[in-house]
Amino acid sequence: MTTVVVLEPQSSGLSLLRYGKAAGHRIVVLSRDAGDRRVPDDHRRYIDELIEVETNDQAAVDAALDRLPRIDAVVPGLEFHVGVAARAAARLGLPGLPVTTVDLVRDKHLMRAALDRAGLPAPRWAAVTSPREAVRAATAIGYPLVLKPADFCGSFHVTKVTDEVELTAAYRRMAADETRDFGRTAGARALVEEYLTGPELSVEGYVHDGRVTVAAIVEKRLSPEPSFVEIGHVVPAELDAGVADRIRRHTGAVARALGVTMGPFHHEIRLTADGPVTIELAARLAGGQIYELIELTTGVCLPRAMLAGYLGRAPRETRTKDAAGAAATVFFIPAGPVSGTRALGADRVESLPGYVRHRFTVVPGAAVPAGTDHRCRLGYAILRAGSTAEARRLSTTAAGLVTFE
Ligand SMILES: Nc1ncnc2c1ncn2[C@@H]1O[C@H](COP(=O)(O)OP(=O)(O)O)[C@@H](O)[C@H]1O
Ligand SMILES: [Mg+2]
Repeated sequence: MTTVVVLEPQSSGLSLLRYGKAAGHRIVVLSRDAGDRRVPDDHRRYIDELIEVETNDQAAVDAALDRLPRIDAVVPGLEFHVGVAARAAARLGLPGLPVTTVDLVRDKHLMRAALDRAGLPAPRWAAVTSPREAVRAATAIGYPLVLKPADFCGSFHVTKVTDEVELTAAYRRMAADETRDFGRTAGARALVEEYLTGPELSVEGYVHDGRVTVAAIVEKRLSPEPSFVEIGHVVPAELDAGVADRIRRHTGAVARALGVTMGPFHHEIRLTADGPVTIELAARLAGGQIYELIELTTGVCLPRAMLAGYLGRAPRETRTKDAAGAAATVFFIPAGPVSGTRALGADRVESLPGYVRHRFTVVPGAAVPAGTDHRCRLGYAILRAGSTAEARRLSTTAAGLVTFE
């Protein structure tokens, strides 16, 4: 039987367990399995063997893999483990991303530098490691700009700043924050980047044998600035055919520049007046149930494509539902501080037209963090609609129906 090892499944990475099991594979999970890396109860039934290990430690992961009798694929289940999985796969001679590529896509400094070398459109930016360096770079770039950690995700400490005082304060907050996300802190390595104006989109797809397939372009709904919490996604993005084509070509160029030769990608862009500009490319499935929205609207299943690619097989996904309407994820975010014990209004969301499912992630008694990163999202619903505009409207309605106490 084919054995697929999933390294730290969380967020959309959890879907790999279900699809892997459905495909008849033996599923082995390597996970810290504690705190925010605990594998949720409702996904444990897809796992044949769960090995507890510090997944942020390459040597510990390699040692755990060496004890397994057979491995056909090592698949990353979370952004932070894209690099660990690639190194493990390379050592074992299994399909995976080149180590040089994961170094680029896991580090925003190196990613920006590689895109610049390829001559792709980019904001002005600088790598900084102290508030003084940040202010000096910002003076050259000009305000407003965005400060963000070089190696983090979930919009943690990604902040728009309009002057030196805001930049220094945001930098100090970021560098001093001991909060751990999947066992890691934001740290002091950061970027300052010219603020890109324009709607935000993500391009979702996969690469096989170096060929880039775009499955969908997704519209983002974002929280009010200066933070950038994603509060919703809508598929498909409403775009002129020419613009969509330009975005697809840009995505192909970015994947090639970064050496993404296989597996799924989640390419975030802003559509500026001069065309698409990359925010970042992640060599993994998108979060926020985006794979599910894509499957609902196109029939293409990205987790299945990912598993195939990591097993060295050609993904056999075909679009079966072109123009089958739109789908959205809407996140539920408390309006202010709550004790985080109860969500109200689920019944009203359930009775919306196009309701598919919802889930709350309220941890009773847990303090709800401020609305500056993904942790303020206490649940989501998936909705379907006849058009993108209707899905957008439904999302706004749904968000207004849920309150927390
Ligand atoms: N240069 C920029 N201009 C405008 N918005 C940006 C810029 N960089 C980041 N953002 C916003 O912040 C969000 C998070 O930044 P990103 O670089 O994707 O970091 P993360 O790894 O936390 O997702 C982006 O999705 C986008 O909305
Ligand atoms: Mg991002």
